[in-house]
Amino acid sequence: MFDPVEAVKAFVRCPSVSTDLSFAEGMASARNHLCGLFHQMGLSVEVVATPRHPIVIAERAGAAGWPHIIVYGHYDVQPADPLDLWESRPFEPEVRDGYLYGRGVADNKGPLLVHVSAVGRLLEAHPDVPLGITFLVEGEEEIGSPSFAGFLKRARDRLAGDFVLLSDTQSPRSDQVAITVGLRGIICLNVELVGPAKDLHSGVYGGAVYNPIQALAELCSTLHNADGRVNLPGFYDDVVDVAPWEREELKKVGFVETEYAEFLGVSAFHTSPGLGPFEAVRFAPTLDFNGIGGGYQGDGTKTVIPSRAFAKISCRLVPNQDPERIQGRLVQTLRDRCTPKVSINFETEHCGAPYRVAPPDKGDDSGVASHHLRTAFRAADSSINEVFGRRPVYLCEGGSVPVIPCLKETTGMDSLMIGMCTPESNLHAPNENLPLDMFVRGIEVSERIFRAVAGI
Ligand code: BES
Ligand code: MN
Repeated sequence: MFDPVEAVKAFVRCPSVSTDLSFAEGMASARNHLCGLFHQMGLSVEVVATPRHPIVIAERAGAAGWPHIIVYGHYDVQPADPLDLWESRPFEPEVRDGYLYGRGVADNKGPLLVHVSAVGRLLEAHPDVPLGITFLVEGEEEIGSPSFAGFLKRARDRLAGDFVLLSDTQSPRSDQVAITVGLRGIICLNVELVGPAKDLHSGVYGGAVYNPIQALAELCSTLHNADGRVNLPGFYDDVVDVAPWEREELKKVGFVETEYAEFLGVSAFHTSPGLGPFEAVRFAPTLDFNGIGGGYQGDGTKTVIPSRAFAKISCRLVPNQDPERIQGRLVQTLRDRCTPKVSINFETEHCGAPYRVAPPDKGDDSGVASHHLRTAFRAADSSINEVFGRRPVYLCEGGSVPVIPCLKETTGMDSLMIGMCTPESNLHAPNENLPLDMFVRGIEVSERIFRAVAGI
């Protein structure tokens, strides 16, 4: 069996940035590393081509009647820049103070290898364990999983397991594990306003035409009300109330608002009425500007009326908002509100639905559909309690993993999500890191979950 920490380090050394075509070699080396681990564990491995980055599938075939667990993860990572803010180089993993640093170490290479290592150990100790296991590891998560839905439709039969197990979310602290019971959905939209056919001298022509930057700023400013709520017709229509137990779980964590403000470096929060910041990021939908631009961006001044301006907008969605409907409303509203003196163009990007799973023994009695998933949830609860010395909390998360609702819709499978990194892990940011104590304990927890489902 391989050494799990060394396996993560070697994985991080493969610079698998999915959005940037110049990292094709890094994507391939990450895939090869993963395939090597799966081969060592005796799994049959298949690399399925997609238009961008292949999907890696590793299987331990089950027998009829055996439980079948699908483990999801992604081998791609976010770009490492800004590089000058890293204390060690992003693709040269380094341990400092019990944390392993490197791009992708927490999102998602380390947490994925928690489950890979657990299965490796399990198969070594119990080569005959009565369990079907399929690893499903994609390379396009950080670019919105554009190939996944199509792939899943073709492969749904072999992926019809009992449930999905993954660690691609966060926990409050490395000693307080969260079982993630909800994810927000997402839509992304790029908007471009075009005014004059070319950039104009603002002295010679200023006053005669509508400046596209001004039009864009005015347009963007209509998208929120003064109280912070999103100002789109029907935006909140389908939002369902959160269950009382979800609020109770959040209280159990003991999050402190002043510490959160300090951590984020803000002097005040800006939430919608009736929501604290910890609730707002989990239970409410948002509309955000992720980028805005146009005109001169360099040093000094340039007296110009630019020909165009753009904004990158995204919404996070909660149950039961429908991504396509919200995207349609956003486009229509922007069209309706935009001055006819400029033209407006749209480019729609990735979309993902919100997701909720009601864990057994919480809320209503319906719980999760699959008997094996119930077993897995209960095993996760007790083994986290034993291994980490604290019961898990059951939290929704504000981030999105669009394949999770997609798997639910296509195959009916729900997911057991266990956070194996923390808010200090700096996902998508410089100095991304993985708490190694959490990683090591996580392997033990994962192995116990597999055993419980197998009944050994
Ligand atoms: N692992 C994250 C999502 C996440 C992070 C969920 C923390 C919960 C807590 C994932 O890799 C990610 O960043 N997803 C993107 C999806 C997008 C590109 C469609 C996101 O949420 O922005
Ligand atoms: Mn991720």
